[in-house]
Amino acid sequence: MAYTKPGLTTITSTSSTQRLIVFSFLLLFTFPLLLLVFVFPRPYLQTEPPTSFPSLDKVKLPRWLRVIQKTHIGHQMPLRLGLVNFEDIESFSQLRLHGILDYVTIDFQHLSPNVTWKTYFPEWIDETRPGKQCPSIPMPEPGRYSGLDVVVAKLPCEEIKKRQEEYNNGTQKSKKEGTRDVHRLQLSLATARLLLENNDGSRDEDIYAMFVGKCEPMVEIFRCDDLVWHGGEYWVYKPKVDKLRESISMPVGTCDLATPYSYSGARQLQANPNQQLEPQTTRREAYVTILHSSEDYVCGAIALAQSILQTNTNKDLVLLADRTISDHSIAGLQAAGWKIKRIDRIRSPHAMVDAYNEWNYSKLRVWQLTEYDKVMFIDADLIVLRNIDHFFDFPQLSAAPNSKWIFNSGIMILEPSECFFDYLMSKRYTLKSYNGGDQGYLNEVLTWWHRLTKKLNFMKFFGNKKEEDRLVPEDRYTIHFLGMKPWTCYRDYDCNWDRKDYQVFASDAVHARWWQVYDAMAPELQPYCAMTAQTDSRIRKRRQRAQKANLSDGHWKIEIKDPRQYNLVSSSRTNQRAIS
Ligand SMILES: *[C@@H]1O[C@H](CO)[C@@H](O)[C@H](O)[C@H]1NC(C)=O
Ligand SMILES: *[C@@H]1O[C@H](CO)[C@@H](O)[C@H](O)[C@H]1NC(C)=O
Ligand SMILES: *[C@@H]1O[C@H](CO)[C@@H](O)[C@H](O)[C@H]1NC(C)=O
Ligand SMILES: *[C@@H]1O[C@H](CO)[C@@H](O)[C@H](O)[C@H]1NC(C)=O
Repeated sequence: MAYTKPGLTTITSTSSTQRLIVFSFLLLFTFPLLLLVFVFPRPYLQTEPPTSFPSLDKVKLPRWLRVIQKTHIGHQMPLRLGLVNFEDIESFSQLRLHGILDYVTIDFQHLSPNVTWKTYFPEWIDETRPGKQCPSIPMPEPGRYSGLDVVVAKLPCEEIKKRQEEYNNGTQKSKKEGTRDVHRLQLSLATARLLLENNDGSRDEDIYAMFVGKCEPMVEIFRCDDLVWHGGEYWVYKPKVDKLRESISMPVGTCDLATPYSYSGARQLQANPNQQLEPQTTRREAYVTILHSSEDYVCGAIALAQSILQTNTNKDLVLLADRTISDHSIAGLQAAGWKIKRIDRIRSPHAMVDAYNEWNYSKLRVWQLTEYDKVMFIDADLIVLRNIDHFFDFPQLSAAPNSKWIFNSGIMILEPSECFFDYLMSKRYTLKSYNGGDQGYLNEVLTWWHRLTKKLNFMKFFGNKKEEDRLVPEDRYTIHFLGMKPWTCYRDYDCNWDRKDYQVFASDAVHARWWQVYDAMAPELQPYCAMTAQTDSRIRKRRQRAQKANLSDGHWKIEIKDPRQYNLVSSSRTNQRAIS
C-alpha cells in the first residue's frame, strides 16, 4: 500500500538519481586508489622482496607486526604465519594481498565440550605406572606445518569469560574449576608444539608466538620474561627454545608424573654447536624457606637446614626473614647453615586482620631471588629424610599433590623472575585464593602444574588409622608436620593426641623422627628450640582436658621427662604487628 502513495514515489526516484551520481564519483576516485594499493606493490614484491617492511604511508601495519619487524633480525619477507583457532582471517588476507605476510590455517581436532579440567587433572593417579595414564589431547599433525615465523593463536576467551561468570553465579557444573580451561590449554600446547617444530634451536632466526583475545595467554607456558609486547588484545612472545622444549616434554596435566628434564651437555650441543657449555656445577640453585610475622618457626627452620645438610647437598640454603625475626634468631639460623635475606612481608588481600594467614603472601618474594635459576621452596615445618637434589631437574611449577587438582605449596620447584613476581603482585586483588593463603592463590595463577611423587611431600596426616599404623613409609623423602609442630610439644609423645580434633595428625613414631634431627644439632643450636612458658601452659591445659575427657588413646598418662620443661623461656615475640 505504501508504494502507491505518489509523494513517496517521487522521493524514491529522486534519491536513486542521487545515488547514481554518488556511486559514479566514488568509482572515479577509488579506482586509481585501488590500482595504486593492489596492483602496484604486488609485482614489485614478487620480483624483488624487500628486506624490510614497506613504509607506513603505503600500508598501515598493525602494531604487533611492527613490533615483530623491529625485533626480528635477519628474516625474509613475507612473514610466514600459522593461524590457530581463527574463523575470521580478513585482516590477515589484507596483509597477504600486500605481500607482507603469508599464512596457513592450522588444523587440529578441538576437544569436545564435555571434556573438563578433571580429565587431565585427576585427584589421584597410580604412581607405579608412569607415562601411561594421560588421555591423549589432539594436536596438529607433526611435520605438516613447516617454515613458520610466527604462530598466531586466538584465545577462547568467550568460553573463559562464560566459565568465570558461571563460577561467580554458582551455576558452574564442575564446581570450582574457576578459570581452568582445557580448550585454552590445548591451544597453548598446540602453539608451543608448532613453535618448537619450526625452530628447535638449530635455526639462528627467532620464532614468535602471538595471542589475540580479551583474556590472557597461559603464563605457565608463555612466560612474562619472553613477552616482547602487549597492547590491547595482542600479546607477542619471543619464547626461549629450551624452556619451550621443557614445557612440551611434560605430561598434558597431572594425569601423570612429571618427567625430569636436565639441560645435559649433549642436548645443548645439539641445539647450538657454537655455544659455550656451562658446567653443571654453575647451575644456580637453592633451597629456600621463609620466616615472617613471628618467631614461632625459627626452631623449625634450624631443624630443616640441619636435615638438608645431612643429605650432603651442594646447593645453597637461603632463608627469607622479615623484621619480626630478631638478630639473635638470625645468628642461630646462620649458624644452622642458612644465608639470610631480609624482606618486607606481604599482606594477603583477602585475609582478615590478625588471621593466621594474614601475611602468607610473603612467600611470593621467593620469585625475587633472581640470583638463582631454580629454587626449591620448603616450608619450615618440614624435615628432609634423604637427598632430594634431583628434584631440581623439574621445571616451574612442580609440586606434590594436595587434593582435587590442587598442589601443596609446602614444597615447590620454581624459577625466580622479577616480572613474574610483579605479575603475582598485580593479580592478587582480582584472583581469588580458595583459602585466603598463598597455596590457594598460587593454584589459581599456576593452574598448569607438574605432578611430583607424593613421596616428596609426606603429609603427617593419618585420618582414623590405628595407632600402630601411623608410620613413615621407608621410601618417603620428607615429612611435612601438619597439626601441632613437634617443637611445640614435649618430646615424650605427640601432643596432637591431646586434642580430639587434632588426633588425625598424631603419631609418636613420626614425632620421634623430628627429635632425631634435634639430637643431631650442634648443642648451641638446641636452645632455639626451647619451650616458651606460654606454650608450656597451653599443652599442660590440653593434657588436663584430655585426662578429664578420658581420651581412650591414654597419652595424657605418659609422664613428661623432656628436660626442656625445666628451662622455660619467656614468650618470644609472637605478635609483632607493631613493627611493620
Ligand atoms: C564426550 O563426547 C564425545 C563425543 O563428542 C564422546 O565420544 C565421549 O564419550 C564423551 N565423553 C564423556 C566423558 O562424556
Ligand atoms: C549470571 O547471572 C547473571 C545475573 O543473574 C545473568 O544475567 C547471566 O546470564 C548469568 N550467566 C551465566 C553464564 O549463567
Ligand atoms: C599461612 O602461614 C602460616 C604460618 O606461616 C601457616 O601455619 C599456614 O598454614 C599458612 N596458611 C595457608 C593457608 O597457606
Ligand atoms: C576411662 O576409659 C576407660 C576405657 O578406655 C575405662 O575403663 C574407665 O572406666 C574410664 N574412666 C572414667 C573415669 O570414666
